[in-house]
Amino acid sequence: MCGIVGYVGSKPGMDVVLEGLRRLEYRGYDSAGVAVLSDAGELQVERRAGKLANLEKVVVGTPLPGTLAIGHTRWATHGAPTDRNAHPHVDCAGRVAVVHNGTIENFEELVAGLEQRGHERRSETDTEVVAHLLEERYDGDLAEAVRSVCRDLEGSFVLVVAHADRPDVVVGARRNLPLVIGLGEGENFLGSDVTAFIGHTREARIVDQDQVVELRRDGVTVTTLDGTVVDGASFHVDWDTDAAEKGGHEFFMLKEIQEQPAAIRETLGGRLQEDGLLHLDELSMSDEDIRGIEQVVIIACGSSYHSGLVGKYAIERWCRLPVQVEMASEFRYRDPVVGRNTLVIAVSQSGETADTLEAVRHARSQKAWVLAVTNTVGSTISRESDAAFYTRGGPEVAVASTKAVITQIVAMYVVGLYLAQVRGTRDADEVRAHLADLREIPDLVQEVLDRMDGVRELARDLVNEPRVLFLGRHVGYPMALEGALKLKELAYISAEGFPAGEIKHGPIALIEKGTPVVVLAARHALSAKLVNNVQEVRARGARTIVIATDGDDSVTPYADEIIRIPDTKSLLTPLLTIVPMQVLSAEVARAKGLDVDQPRNLAKSVTVE
Ligand code: M6R
Repeated sequence: MCGIVGYVGSKPGMDVVLEGLRRLEYRGYDSAGVAVLSDAGELQVERRAGKLANLEKVVVGTPLPGTLAIGHTRWATHGAPTDRNAHPHVDCAGRVAVVHNGTIENFEELVAGLEQRGHERRSETDTEVVAHLLEERYDGDLAEAVRSVCRDLEGSFVLVVAHADRPDVVVGARRNLPLVIGLGEGENFLGSDVTAFIGHTREARIVDQDQVVELRRDGVTVTTLDGTVVDGASFHVDWDTDAAEKGGHEFFMLKEIQEQPAAIRETLGGRLQEDGLLHLDELSMSDEDIRGIEQVVIIACGSSYHSGLVGKYAIERWCRLPVQVEMASEFRYRDPVVGRNTLVIAVSQSGETADTLEAVRHARSQKAWVLAVTNTVGSTISRESDAAFYTRGGPEVAVASTKAVITQIVAMYVVGLYLAQVRGTRDADEVRAHLADLREIPDLVQEVLDRMDGVRELARDLVNEPRVLFLGRHVGYPMALEGALKLKELAYISAEGFPAGEIKHGPIALIEKGTPVVVLAARHALSAKLVNNVQEVRARGARTIVIATDGDDSVTPYADEIIRIPDTKSLLTPLLTIVPMQVLSAEVARAKGLDVDQPRNLAKSVTVE
């Protein structure tokens, strides 16, 4: 949460930072701000509540001069989303500017000391204490002042700092949250992720836990908090600015939905051997260890949790292993039974979700083997896990997750099949056959995408609905949850997903004449029972919108609207049913005139617990 950019070079710093903030705005959009330092040492700050556009209106006509700048886009934690609480924050003399992502847990104690020592607090944020502490501790070496302050901070933070006395240096620091260095020629960058500087350089280096980076025009120096210089490898970002642009689409989400066939191909690519079986070195587990697994626990949040639920059906079926799926925010507080023979799979698009990260740490402390399934190379969760399976979905900018989720589901199947292959619970021919089915999925997803006109029309018809229910059985159930989450977060419609067999135990009372009920009735073993459930809700007045497989007419008589998808194996149907629900929710939001990419109150990367 919160997006951070830092720049020192020869270009207008404000332009570089605003460009970075545009790409990071998905991380929070409660306010935005920049601080620009001129070569003459004049530090100017502008900040505005609301989206970045509010700030741009102010600064674009009257650019702040200087080739060193820092910037911030905020998801509010301490203090309301006002101009006064927007970052950057400055010290009493206005000579130090600080942007911050995270929460400083001991800030009240620090504020008390600062007030006693005569500092005047001007915001309700925790961040401001850092500016005042730096004012006290700076004596010419900005990186040392930042190290000294960081040693006294509790909580999680990324800090990026500029000082009026140092037009040659930007300093950054991190604990628990992500910070990446962009390495340029005669210029260097800091960003919450690589999209912040991808328009300028594709060479990057991760800042590690409790490290401080001094960014100069001619290079960077990274140290630990005690000042020891540390080396670190750089990496090349293998996608370019096009991947982080809308490419002619009105919203990133609409583009990302269309990118799903290609994203799935990337997830599968290179993981199949010539003999048609899987090769997953990335699990970093010996065959003996894999055979020794006694249970699998999947931890995740939000849509990633729904991907994990699909994984449960696949892994139990193919590997005959008990699988639990846990919301990461609950996992570690429940004293879960995990240990040496537990494989924990942490699913996270961003690889930075605080709840999932803490759950990973807890699982590792219990000696479980933790595999991260993530889209973000070098993310904290991938680095703190024992192994990482990268989903390779490419950058996902829209807050609502689409291609990241579909690639996570593919990852669940791939990992499940690999475990089955090594453990011998499925023979080689069967594994090959499932993989062949998976390889057909990108074309089938494309077919679904090509059929979406009816769904767009239906969306316009749902804009005034106060409530929509989603029903599914078996692997359709996690997708019912996902469909409901998408509609809630994008269109602000009260939506709930249920196992279809469960509604008669209570939720059916919600149905009134005309209540839309989306039924995920793709072909699977329980479809006869599902047909009964559709009849039950229709008999009570529901308007049934049924997602059904081509050629399956068992449900047609009870469907008010029907959305057809191509046939595939029942276990793989989530990869097809998910698509119309993504399109439906995005189109309802669009028809309501809402911001599809940046729904209210949300941020893409949730780095607070
Ligand atoms: O980055 P993660 O996958 O860990 O994020 C988990 C959730 O915050 C995320 O899936 C969220 O639910 C999205 N808004 C769903 O569209």
